[in-house]
This record gives sequence, structure tokens and C-alpha cells, in this order.
Amino acid sequence: MKPIAPAYKTENIKYAVRDILLVADQAKAAGKKLLYLNIGDPILFDFKTPEFVTDAITASLKRGETGYAPSSGTAPALAAIRRDAERRGIKNVQDIYITSGGSEAIELALTSLLNPGDNLLVPTPGYPLYTAVLSKLEAEANPYYLNEEDGWQIDVEDVRRKINDRTKGIVVINPNNPTGAVLSRKVAQELVDLAAERNLVIFSDEIYDKLILDGQDHVSLAALSKDAACVTFNGLSKVYMGPGLRMGWGIVSGQEAVVGDYYRAIQKLTRARLCAPHPFMAAIAPALDGENAHLPAIVEKLRRRRDITSEMLNSIPGISCVKPEGAFYAFPRLERITDTDEAWCARLIREMGVVTVPGSGFGQKPGTKHFRIVFLPDENTLKEAYSKIGEMGAN
Ligand SMILES: Cc1ncc(COP(=O)(O)O)c(C=O)c1O
Repeated sequence: MKPIAPAYKTENIKYAVRDILLVADQAKAAGKKLLYLNIGDPILFDFKTPEFVTDAITASLKRGETGYAPSSGTAPALAAIRRDAERRGIKNVQDIYITSGGSEAIELALTSLLNPGDNLLVPTPGYPLYTAVLSKLEAEANPYYLNEEDGWQIDVEDVRRKINDRTKGIVVINPNNPTGAVLSRKVAQELVDLAAERNLVIFSDEIYDKLILDGQDHVSLAALSKDAACVTFNGLSKVYMGPGLRMGWGIVSGQEAVVGDYYRAIQKLTRARLCAPHPFMAAIAPALDGENAHLPAIVEKLRRRRDITSEMLNSIPGISCVKPEGAFYAFPRLERITDTDEAWCARLIREMGVVTVPGSGFGQKPGTKHFRIVFLPDENTLKEAYSKIGEMGAN
């Protein structure tokens, strides 16, 4: 047989978070002890899925809920998501669909909107799934830059300048992966007003919404205007410490006359793929309706790890780190290296055994270099890793 040629649409798809593991595996095979600060999976560290979540799933399995579920999700889970949306002030909810992880919710929403040649405003830096899906759809990522000098807030004027006649929507990640920034209410409102003025769909990725480290308000963008056409993404992966449960969802809100055709297209795609995993949906109502008693201890642990991260990294010459306010990521800047950030991160693995992800995997302003840290590991591991980064130096 001849070699099978993969589709050209896959050529530009990169996922730096996992790609860096190739370098890490080589270093490990060569006998290096590795400290992993690269993957945002709390279960790999000292975090656990709360028992009320796992109990609900076990009970569903015992009830025999192993057949197909309705394509959008089970009625109790959908009702719980609707109640949660109301509590957040999201008005005009038109449709909710439950998916296999937040990732599938994102993929279905983008696929239902974009034609080849259309573009979507994507935060830069930002979570790389969006650009990967755009590549698959032959649509363009239209990067807007987050402002490092302003705590990685969105520069609304930059967004305005980048809108053109093929721009269909804007992605906002709040709190952001990889920067850990939490969007201020003022900027959020400006953005929602701009989107309404220019007829853009807002994709608001709020998967880290309850991991807020300094007690600020988390603002759901869809709550700021009942007319904004918005898809809000969330799930059980991060706040409920269950990324392997693969439970996510999308909430479509706005005026029926505006978003009706669009959410019906999403529904067609949800029907075509039948349903998300049925027994896991049983965890959604107890999670969203419960008291979140697991959260204060988690947030406290993350706050201490964030403080160590920001203090130790900022004390290394050549590194500056905006203090993250949410999620469990930091995006420190390499101010004076002459190499690429990929080369610097590879050297950090080979020489020091510290695994981080190069900033270029998330997009960054031309001329700047960064790396992404996951501060889920325990305090001692983080201190050891940052000492080693200091020892190698950021030159
Ligand atoms: C911003 C953001 N959105 C979506 C996802 C994907 O979520 P899920 O694991 O539920 O598919 C992630 C995972 O890291 C993320 O960081």
C-alpha cells in the first residue's frame, strides 16, 4: 500500500501542552528526574474529585443508566444548569447542551457558526483548542492581544480594530488559561457592548469560574446584556476536579429571533453524535445545586501556591510574572533570552528536569517570550522547581 496522506487541515494543529512531553519523555529515558509543571489536571496532584460527585455517578450506574441519554442531556442535569445560569444572572437562555467535556461544547459551537474563510477573535495568549478547531474548519484565528502591562486584561480598542467583515465572534476565557487573569466588570461590559454593536457571537469560556483566588467577583459575560448573543462554556473538569469525567456544556443565550437558527444548528450536531456519557450527567445537579463545600480548601491551597509562584519567579533576574488571580496557571515573561522560548523550555527539561510549556504554544505578542506554569503541585515541589529555574537562569 501507499502511505496514507492525512488531511491538510491537520497540518497546523499543535497542542503544546502535550507536545512538550516528547522532550520530557526523552529526558526521563535518559535518567533525569522530572518535575511536572505542565498539565492542568488536578488529579495528578493532591486534589480529589469530591465524593458527592463520584457517589452520584455510582448511583446512576447502579440504576442502570447506561443507555443513550437525550442528545442535549438528561432533564435533571439541564434543569440544574438552567438554575445555575439564572443564579449568575444569565437572562434569555435559549438552549443548553451537555457534551463530552467543555472541549466538545466548544467544537460544536464553533462548527455550527463558521464557514471557511470566516474568522473568530481569539485571546492571545489563550487556550489552544480554539485555534485547533478553527484550523479544522478552514476558518481563521484573528488574534487580539491581552495586555500584560495591565494584568493581562483585554484591550478593547485592540479588539475593535481587528473586527472585519468576516469576523463572526469573539472568544473570551475568564479566568484565562494561560495567564490566570480574571476579567474586570468594566472591561467585560465594554466588550459585551462592542459585540452587540458589531453583531458578534460571544464565546465565554468560564470553566475556571469558581477558582478565584482573591475574592473578586466573577462576571458571566452573558449576564451583562440580555440581548447579547452568547455561548457560555462550563463543566465539571476544573471546579469539580473531574477532568476525566468529560462533562461539559454550552448555554446559548440572547434573543430567540437572533440566536434561534444558530442553536438549532448546534442541536443538529448534538443529535448526530447521539449523546454525552450518560451516567456522568447525574453528577451535574448535585455539583451545581450543592454548597461547594470542597472549594474553600482548594482555593486556599491554590492561593498559597500562587503566592510562592509569583514571589519566587519575580525574584529571578530576567523573569517577570503577573500575579494570577484565578485558575491555576501563571504565564511568566522571559525578558532577555536570545533563544526561542521553545528552546529555553527544552533546555530547562534537559538540564534541570523542570517541565513547563513554551509560551508560543498559546500565542503571544510578537517579540515577547513566555512560558506557562501550572501551580497545582505541592509547595515543596514548586519551591524546588523555581529554585532550579533560578539556578539555570533566564538568559
Ligand atoms: C480554557 C479552557 N477551556 C476548555 C478546556 C477543556 O475542558 P474539558 O477538559 O472539560 O474538555 C480547558 C482545559 O484545560 C481550558 O483550559
